[in-house]
Amino acid sequence: MFAQFLMCLLLVGIEADFYPGGWELVFRALQGNGESVFDAWKTESDNVKAFSEGCDKVYVHPGKHHFRSSLIDEWELLGIEQVKVELYKNKKIATYIVFNGTDSNMFNWFHQSRILTSSWSDLTVGATYNKFSIEGDMTRRFFINKQYGGCPNDLGWMSLLDPGKGHGCDWDTQDSYPAFLHSTDNTAVNWHLGTYDRADIMAIFIKHSN
Ligand SMILES: *[C@@H]1O[C@H](CO)[C@@H](O)[C@H](O)[C@H]1NC(C)=O
Repeated sequence: MFAQFLMCLLLVGIEADFYPGGWELVFRALQGNGESVFDAWKTESDNVKAFSEGCDKVYVHPGKHHFRSSLIDEWELLGIEQVKVELYKNKKIATYIVFNGTDSNMFNWFHQSRILTSSWSDLTVGATYNKFSIEGDMTRRFFINKQYGGCPNDLGWMSLLDPGKGHGCDWDTQDSYPAFLHSTDNTAVNWHLGTYDRADIMAIFIKHSN
């Protein structure tokens, strides 16, 4: 216990946490805590709980709040080569996407033109999307959608539903927010038919070029 506490202090002190492969955790969002993921992502670190109580690890002492590294404010100075988004459920990776982070800013790295690999076989640079952005649409953040066809014909891959107004369809009306919806198929799903799951954590990692 005490050793773990010291470890946390050390990690918080150096504000860096490298995972195998050189990935560094810069953001971690928790489902259902009532806090906007979009606000946590975009707000300068002075104004958010930069560290939740405990380590900046995906699952060690996740606490109650989203975690945001102040590195996000220096995004364009970091020489970022790749950015990885992972959704977790019960401590397992449910889905992931790796983006080309070269010459990106803190918003535009999350775009179809930058996809390198993904757990979804049809999430490719050339696929058809009607939404693909961090800001998303209404309360649908980190939103990757294929088509709007009226609520019963909405197809997509990933939608992090923030608290607030604008939950217009059955599929984006959940019993707590934020809610991290993702297709459990190998491809996009029809949101209305419910072939999706709710993840409990979203983590974003960066990899530097040096
Ligand atoms: C990433 O994007 C840069 C700039 O467009 C490009 O030069 C580089 O080849 C890309 N990297 C990969 C792995 O596709």
